[in-house]
Amino acid sequence: MNEKDILILAVESSCDETAAAVVRNGREVLSNIISSQIELHKLYGGVVPEIASRKHIEKINQVIREALETAAVTLDDLDAVAVTYGPGLVGALLVGVAEAKAISYAKKLPLVGVHHIEGHISANYIENKELEPPFLCLVVSGGHTHLVMVKDYGVYEILGRTRDDAAGEAFDKVARAIGLGYPGGPKIDKLSAEGNPEAIRFPKAKIPDAPYDFSFSGLKSAVLNYLNGCRMKGEEIVPADVAASFQKAVVDVLVEHAILAAKELGTDKLAIAGGVASNGTLRRTMEKACAREGIAFYHPSPILCTDNAAMIGAAAYYEFRNGVRHGLDLNAVPNLKLGER
Ligand code: KG4
Ligand code: ZN
Repeated sequence: MNEKDILILAVESSCDETAAAVVRNGREVLSNIISSQIELHKLYGGVVPEIASRKHIEKINQVIREALETAAVTLDDLDAVAVTYGPGLVGALLVGVAEAKAISYAKKLPLVGVHHIEGHISANYIENKELEPPFLCLVVSGGHTHLVMVKDYGVYEILGRTRDDAAGEAFDKVARAIGLGYPGGPKIDKLSAEGNPEAIRFPKAKIPDAPYDFSFSGLKSAVLNYLNGCRMKGEEIVPADVAASFQKAVVDVLVEHAILAAKELGTDKLAIAGGVASNGTLRRTMEKACAREGIAFYHPSPILCTDNAAMIGAAAYYEFRNGVRHGLDLNAVPNLKLGER
C-alpha cells in the first residue's frame, strides 16, 4: 500500500439496510457488505422503524467484521471511520452512529459523519474514476428527489426538489395499488417490460416558475383514479400497462428537468444517483437524451445506487481530505440538510 493511501471503514444504517464497507482513497472498494431487511418489512408493506433499529443492532457487528475480513484489513489499518448521520430514521441512524463512535473511541480513529445524499451522489466516483466536480446530479431515492449541482467535493447547490412525494415513494405507492408489494420500484421496473408505456396517458406535473422542481402526488392520484374508474366500469386492468405508463410519466419528467438544467447551466456532465437510478428505463432514456445533447452521462452500478456503505466511504474520503472531523458528541440528525455539517 502506498504511503499516502487513506483507508476508511464506512457504516450505513439510515433505513432498512445494515451496511459496512472498506474504501481506499475514496474510489477503490475493498469490501461492500449489505444486510438487507427487505424480507422482514415486506410483511408490513413498508419499513417499520422500530423493527429496522432492532435488526440493525443484531446485524451491525457481523456486517462490520465481514467488511474488514473481505478487505483483508483490521481496525489497526484504518485511517478513519465514517458513518451516515442523517437524513433517515432516527433510531436506525443511531445504531450506526453509536457503533462508529465506539470504534473511533476505542481505536483513536478520526470520525467522519456523512450526509446520506452526499453518499448517493459520491457512488458515481467509484466506477467513474475520471469524474470530478463540477457536474449536475439527479438524486432519486425513496425519500429524496433533488437536482443538485455538485460544485466541488462537498459543495452542493440544490437547484430543484420534489414538492411532495419522492420518485421512489411514488413507485412504491403505485406498486402497492396494483398489488405488487414492497419495495415497488424494482417490481414496476420488471413488469413494465411486458407493458405498453403508451397505453394510458398519465399527467406530468410542471410547476410554474420552478422548472427544476418535481411533483409526483398528482401522478400517483391519477393512477389510483384510473384503477378505481376501471373497477367501477368493470373494465379490465392490465397491470403491466399501468406500470409501464406510470413509469414513463416519471422517467420523462426526470429526464426533461435534468436535461433542461444541464443545458441552462451549461454543464456537460450529468450523473444520476439513489435507488431509483437503478431503474432500467430511466438509465436508457437519460443515456439517449444525454447523447443527443452532447452531455457525458454517469451512473453507478445498480448495487451502488440502492443503499450501501461504499458510497458513504467515497463521500467520507473527500470530507476527510477537506478536514472534516466529528466529535464523540455526533448525533443522528433525521432531517439533516445537504451541505450542513
Ligand atoms: O436509495 P434507496 O435505496 O433508499 C433511500 O435512500 O430511500 O432507494 C430506495 C427506493 C425505493 O423507493 C425503491 O422502490 C426504489 O428506490 N427503487 C427503484 C428501483 N430500485 C429501487 N425504483 C425504480 N426502479 C428500480 N429498479
Ligand atoms: Zn438512500
